[in-house]
Amino acid sequence: MRILMISSECAPLAKAGGLGDAVAGLARALGHLGHRVEVLLPAYDCLNLTGLPEPKPLEIHLRVPFAGRAIDCQVLDLSLDGYVCRLIAPRPQDPFFARARIYGEPDDAERFAVFACAAIAYVRALGAGARPDILHCHDWQTGLVLALSREYRQDAPVSQNTGALGKPGMSETSATPIPICYTLHNIGYQGRFRADLLTKLGVQSVPRRLAHWLADHSEAGLINLMKAGIAAADAVNTVSPRYAWEVQYTEQGMGLEAWLRRYAFKFAGILNGIDDSVWDPARDPFIPVHFDLRTLGRKEGNGQALRQRLGLADDPGRPLVAVISRLDWQKGVDLILHGIEYALRAGAQVALLGAALDPEIAGRFALLQARYADSTQVRLVLGHDESLAHLIYAGADLILIPSLYEPCGLTQLIAMRYGTVPIARRVGGLADTIQDANDSIAPRSARTGYLFDEPTPEALEDALGRALWLWREHPREFAQLRCNGMRMDWSWRKPAQRYLELYRYARQTRGCR
Ligand code: ADP
Ligand code: GLC
Repeated sequence: MRILMISSECAPLAKAGGLGDAVAGLARALGHLGHRVEVLLPAYDCLNLTGLPEPKPLEIHLRVPFAGRAIDCQVLDLSLDGYVCRLIAPRPQDPFFARARIYGEPDDAERFAVFACAAIAYVRALGAGARPDILHCHDWQTGLVLALSREYRQDAPVSQNTGALGKPGMSETSATPIPICYTLHNIGYQGRFRADLLTKLGVQSVPRRLAHWLADHSEAGLINLMKAGIAAADAVNTVSPRYAWEVQYTEQGMGLEAWLRRYAFKFAGILNGIDDSVWDPARDPFIPVHFDLRTLGRKEGNGQALRQRLGLADDPGRPLVAVISRLDWQKGVDLILHGIEYALRAGAQVALLGAALDPEIAGRFALLQARYADSTQVRLVLGHDESLAHLIYAGADLILIPSLYEPCGLTQLIAMRYGTVPIARRVGGLADTIQDANDSIAPRSARTGYLFDEPTPEALEDALGRALWLWREHPREFAQLRCNGMRMDWSWRKPAQRYLELYRYARQTRGCR
């Protein structure tokens, strides 16, 4: 199958969080299964090209209508292991992606709208022989790909403009439109913007059905890109079965509960995997001491290296509790802060690695960082640091993930692979992937961590307290937990098959064989 993914992140080139890991891991897994996979990505100036060749320009030129003129984009090509990346590069005078970061700009709506329209133009520019069998869009940043290409096909012309959307649609050369799957990685970010975004893109009049799809569920005058994408897609999924249920039946749907229930017939929950060639304690180039299940004892060498790198006291008699997280309200900011203090009081050491976009959150962690600047028991590293993340997974004993909601969560999966025991809230993908150590109904070999229900300091203390107690009092039992986690198969092998089923479903819906 020819699969074209459209995404705002793809690791290691562009990664702000798990979206980048998930897109890259799935693309590679599908590529290794023999499918032809391309990932379309903005050509950010902050692409991480370490160890990769320079992307090469292709003879494909795209024009995207924006604010009354056309944005010219080049397409760059980069071959990666198992798949190909195509980068959308506007000319230097249109610096939509030259901001030294992926998100957090005041014009994010426009930036990703231009990307989405360029993606539609790209598909249209491909010759019949290169036409994808399936488009796979990710998160709100690509909602317009779904909304505009679908409606455009049926009710063209959406635009009077001469750019990407103004000409006959991407399906022009073929009898059936290209089926589109849409993956919702985080329903907390829906892409809710002022409706004049469409005018900027040269969309003059919006057909009734599209207007209904786009209309935000709670605020008049806003358009909601994820909501429209859900309606337009042939198949929709989110990234764990439990989150798929939560978003339809609890406030985790963030206003889209009823909308998602309406489309339940085409909605699925597919658990993410992790790329086990990138996240492999036996081969990881970022860690000084390699280990696996049989040589788990060597993990301690990474603990020592981590303490040294962070300036923590060399004290293996204390458990090392880690946090690796985007510092966002979703991740349970108050609970993280509480967990750090509690772990320290309980005699543990703490290593936090986190980046915050929200200034209030950034301020709170900066304050704590300053307060503990001279401590040899706790270190807070604020920012994004891939190599340190690997060393923390390898060196820590426990990892704290007290999320208020979590669509899937990759940190617990990576941690388990590195023999680091997760303590997490029983929500979303965390609930689907962690089995509590004290759950007497679960087989002992399936128990991998600690879960708590209420988002309260008391509930967190109870779970973290149980974990620290086992670490101190029953080291052999604790080692067993580590091994149970390491034995789990969190690779993309099974999820990739589920995505292929989803693609087949989408193709059947469109009448493709
Ligand atoms: P989310 O996508 O919501 O941020 P996930 O658990 O799915 O959460 O994925 C987080 C990914 O980002 C993991 O690969 C984790 O190691 C990584 N990560 C998070 N914060 C940082 C950071 N500050 N530095 C390096 N990697 C980070
Ligand atoms: C999102 C979610 C996270 C998920 C990741 C990859 O950012 O917050 O739970 O693991 O996407 O799907």
